[in-house]
Amino acid sequence: MEKKIAQIIDNFAEAAKNATDSASVEKLRVAFLGKKGEISELMKDLKSAPSEQKKAFGQKINQLKKDVEARLVELTATIEQKELEALINSTESYDVTMPSRVETGSYHPITLIQREVEDIFAAMGFTIEDYDEIVDDYHCFEALNIPKHHPARDMQDTYYLDNGQLLKTHTSAAQNAIMRKYGAPLRAIFPGRCFRNEAIDACHENTFFQMEGIMIDKDISISNLIYFMKTMLSEVFQRDVQVRLRPGFFPFVEPGFELDISCQVCGGTGCPSCKNSGWLELCPCGMIHPNVLTAGGIDPEEYTGFAFGLGLTRLAMMKYGVKDIRTFNSGNLKALSQFESL
Ligand code: DAH
Repeated sequence: MEKKIAQIIDNFAEAAKNATDSASVEKLRVAFLGKKGEISELMKDLKSAPSEQKKAFGQKINQLKKDVEARLVELTATIEQKELEALINSTESYDVTMPSRVETGSYHPITLIQREVEDIFAAMGFTIEDYDEIVDDYHCFEALNIPKHHPARDMQDTYYLDNGQLLKTHTSAAQNAIMRKYGAPLRAIFPGRCFRNEAIDACHENTFFQMEGIMIDKDISISNLIYFMKTMLSEVFQRDVQVRLRPGFFPFVEPGFELDISCQVCGGTGCPSCKNSGWLELCPCGMIHPNVLTAGGIDPEEYTGFAFGLGLTRLAMMKYGVKDIRTFNSGNLKALSQFESL
């Protein structure tokens, strides 16, 4: 047994001399520590050793194993260091323009459309504002001319926190704070995530995105509103988009409208997407109610303004032809990763 151990130590030392790259170190490991390696074979011999010698030999073999393992680690480190130095000093060069095989993620379609609309409005002098998702009753409703118990609240049921705050039902909830922050004149857009206690189906979600916009100045009229909406939509769809206004009721605007765009699927001739009407409802809007301006610290005698609440989620559905709104929050990468990366 003693002899065998001494023999293995010699064999290992000899073989280690030739281990000059990672592959040969691995071979060495297999040859000595592998299942059928020299040390493992020795372990088997141990079984037939006289019992009074077993303990001592067992310890020796274990020690030998440890030494070999430590030496292999050392060898690997030296080789890696050498290989790295060789790489640094080599004249070999790489084509950094070669496509890499690292998988990159893609932007969510809502993010894509949000950035696109932001760029368009930024170019027209609008600032982009951020606002909370948890707001109070005053900002979500009262400052928008929706008093407690007003029937308009029925359409916007939401989730309430124990402290009385709530998840905002619309981006309009930021109007008051932004008016107070900047005063008039003012041009701002504010995208945001909104929440409603809704039954979910292909067209309704309890979590969705809107983009609100307000423009306040002297002599702002509905013509300004139509101009900005038409410009933005034509840019988004990269073609001239027809719009039409229908009367609509929202307590925070007077007059209020529903802005429809010509159906982008059929071009206005009528199809299932637009329920054969040729028009799609996209963006409620109107002239800001004097009470809302007053609540925001702006004098309605001096200034007028328009506001709109663009359905970003809906716009993304139209632009990308997504038929089911649930796709957006599904986390289904098969669907979501199809969109271009920025
Ligand atoms: N906040 C309204 C909603 O989510 C949409 C809206 C209507 C926003 C008219 C506006 C507006 O700014 O002028 O139902």
